[in-house]
Amino acid sequence: PQEKDWVGSTLYQYQGFWYPFFAPKAVIAFQNHFKAHETDIFLITMPKSGTTWLKALIFSIANRKQFSLTQSPLLTTNPHELVPFIDINIYLKNRTPDLENGKFPSPRIFATHTPYGTLPSSILKSNCRIVYLCRNPLDQFISDWHFFVNNFPRNGDFKPFSIEEGFERFCKGTHAFGPFWEHVLGYWKMSLEHPEKVLFLKYEDLKKDIASNLKKVADFLSYPFSEEEIRQGVVEEISKLCSFETLKTLEVNMTGVRPVGLKNSAFFRNGKVGDWVNFISPLMADRMKQLCEEKLGDSGLRFDLLG
Ligand code: A3P
Repeated sequence: PQEKDWVGSTLYQYQGFWYPFFAPKAVIAFQNHFKAHETDIFLITMPKSGTTWLKALIFSIANRKQFSLTQSPLLTTNPHELVPFIDINIYLKNRTPDLENGKFPSPRIFATHTPYGTLPSSILKSNCRIVYLCRNPLDQFISDWHFFVNNFPRNGDFKPFSIEEGFERFCKGTHAFGPFWEHVLGYWKMSLEHPEKVLFLKYEDLKKDIASNLKKVADFLSYPFSEEEIRQGVVEEISKLCSFETLKTLEVNMTGVRPVGLKNSAFFRNGKVGDWVNFISPLMADRMKQLCEEKLGDSGLRFDLLG
């Protein structure tokens, strides 16, 4: 089956989820070829849930002994180049890449939007770690819609979907890497069953308290902050280095990974919780609240729509 994304590009369905036209072959190659290392770290998100932020935070946590924060590679290189998407960057270019050649020193840090059920079995069997970050569906949808409509050319004569049409499709699950609920619930359930394997985070919680979430992530990844580092303010330094304000202003456009030529600023719109109120009618919001109740049921997962 086929569908359209917000700007008219084709989406294809694979194993119950919708992918941008270029992704399925790369995802299937990743699924069949990838061999996990015990030390690998996977950052998994739906698009526009704070992936860029998480990439910067985890790169900084894992590499803080190697690079001083004042000379962090983040200051000169886009987070999406430092932590590539394993499937839609690496496997897109080469279906059988050599990932053991020293180009990816340990710990290898990769990102993906691939849903839980489609991950390579070696990730599930190995002791590697997964940090999953999600965001309330209304802010995620609004961020995604703006990202495409503002940064990508429309396909042919296609008129981008209005927010109302896009919202209908989001509710039906026909958007890149959707359906939303199945994506988040897959990782939510895994985090409950295997908390040592999957750390489940929410964008809204990171916004409320970045310091304690950074410590939680560092502990989970076995890179805990020492008492001395905490006294020296390393946690605050990383938070500041990776803040919206700092990352947004860097001259680190994307040159080596897809979509090549995308401006760094495309990943930083306003970084707020609850911005959806400026675009979504109260009626649409009520529908989403009801959908959340139906879909999330008694899973224990709840979203904070207003922060
Ligand atoms: P908005 O469009 O709501 O501003 P992704 O990185 O997954 O593509 O997500 C992008 C969203 O995360 C954008 O949301 C962006 O502004 C926000 N974001 C990026 N970096 C951030 C940071 N350091 N702190 C908070 N939000 C950030």
